[in-house]
Amino acid sequence: MKDFLSLHDCTKEEITGLIKLAIKLKAEQKNGVPHPILKGKTLGMIFTKSSTRTRVSFEVGMTQLGGYPLFLSSNDIQLGRGETIYDTAKVLSRYLDGIMIRTFSHQDVLDLAEYADIPVINALTDLLHPCQVLADLMTIYEHKGKLEELKLAYVGDGNNMAHSLMYGCAKMGMNISVATPKGYECNGEVVENAREDAKQSGCNLVITNDPVEAVKDADVVYSDTWVSMGQEAEKEERVKIFMPYQVNKELFAKAKPDAVFMHCLPAYRGYEVTEDVIDSPQSIIFDEAENRLHAQKAVMATLMG
Ligand code: CP
Ligand code: NVA
Repeated sequence: MKDFLSLHDCTKEEITGLIKLAIKLKAEQKNGVPHPILKGKTLGMIFTKSSTRTRVSFEVGMTQLGGYPLFLSSNDIQLGRGETIYDTAKVLSRYLDGIMIRTFSHQDVLDLAEYADIPVINALTDLLHPCQVLADLMTIYEHKGKLEELKLAYVGDGNNMAHSLMYGCAKMGMNISVATPKGYECNGEVVENAREDAKQSGCNLVITNDPVEAVKDADVVYSDTWVSMGQEAEKEERVKIFMPYQVNKELFAKAKPDAVFMHCLPAYRGYEVTEDVIDSPQSIIFDEAENRLHAQKAVMATLMG
């Protein structure tokens, strides 16, 4: 593994290995056992979009691994003024030991990884959010003791979260149902790739426009914002279309009685999820957010160690 760009590029064994390492690093950190695996190494973190969890968890994670995280806002670096990705990749490769990038275009991240001589980590594009889903799989494993044979229901926009959840579940043999409104379905190529992975791992991948069908008997119910970064101008229109896809008490009740609720955050209460679900004892959103730290430390230690 040179880069971490998409869970579709990883094998089931690689993902399992990352989750196991994340669980080990988490236990060590909680017990005060230092693990300076990346002592003296520097991670450059390019952000073209906002972030709370990703920025903080990567910075803290790199520090806990004994390395140095360098925040690079695209407003401040020459990439934001038109320097090419090729030149940026080549120059940064001379200084850094790894690059983390959050941006709009997935192709830009693929190009950066191709031209960089150092590992590149995808910290969210319009297409995918693999770091989030690695942490999510770890969190589900911690709560349910397994991934295979479980059912995850994703309800909402066919966006980067829906795509990465499909890839993650399909690789790991976890059944997944995705319910989106008409016209907001997932990317066709991603669905096709995930279907192949699901066939290989022997799980079901269901794509529907019916939220009730998706949530029925689910072990995990997942929602995400209806208005992703960059779509702010569509907010009013989206809210109207997506209301029937709100995860409220009534919809959540269609899942298994011991189902958990997950959300990558930031969440907008009263829109994609109601307070009585996201703030209920069955919600595991803060475990999920915490595990970003541990999962990404596993990724950095594996790629840069
Ligand atoms: N879930 C997530 O990636 O959060 P941030 O946008 O705050 O990084
Ligand atoms: N789908 C959301 C995820 C945020 C972590 C977005 O892209 O804005």
